[in-house]
Amino acid sequence: MKIALHPINKTLDLDSGANLLATLLANEVGIRSVCRGRGICATCQVTVKGAPNGLSPKTPQELKTLSLIDGAGPNTRLACQSRVLGDGVVIELPSAVFVEALDDLLALVGEEAVTDYRHPINGSLLIPKDKIITRSLLQLFKNLTEEVNKVSQS
Ligand code: FES
Repeated sequence: MKIALHPINKTLDLDSGANLLATLLANEVGIRSVCRGRGICATCQVTVKGAPNGLSPKTPQELKTLSLIDGAGPNTRLACQSRVLGDGVVIELPSAVFVEALDDLLALVGEEAVTDYRHPINGSLLIPKDKIITRSLLQLFKNLTEEVNKVSQS
């Protein structure tokens, strides 16, 4: 069966029952998985734009995590918790970058954010697109690396 990925306009072939995150990672689609597929972070979230019934129903863990993710809607899915069961699913990949460590942003101090930067656990907006990235702004998230380490190593 096939799924379509937007906005990269890519189609992937996969077997029925394939895990969506594993499929995306195997095809080197730029998606993160801070919690390593345990359904407790925001990084693998995608939006289903077509044939939502082609994915497995949301798991209790997925429902719990989605209820905590800033901006998650009814069509938001966690790729790690989703299996592809039907043809024609259309997936919109996140446009924001989920920051995994503050060091990732240090090199960008003084520049305008080229996209939204979001928290990798709860999905909250850390730095909106076009905002100048400053050291004082990054200080607001000084515990982020520690929070990520807790989730990725727990
Ligand atoms: S990888 Fe963390 S919720 Fe999917």
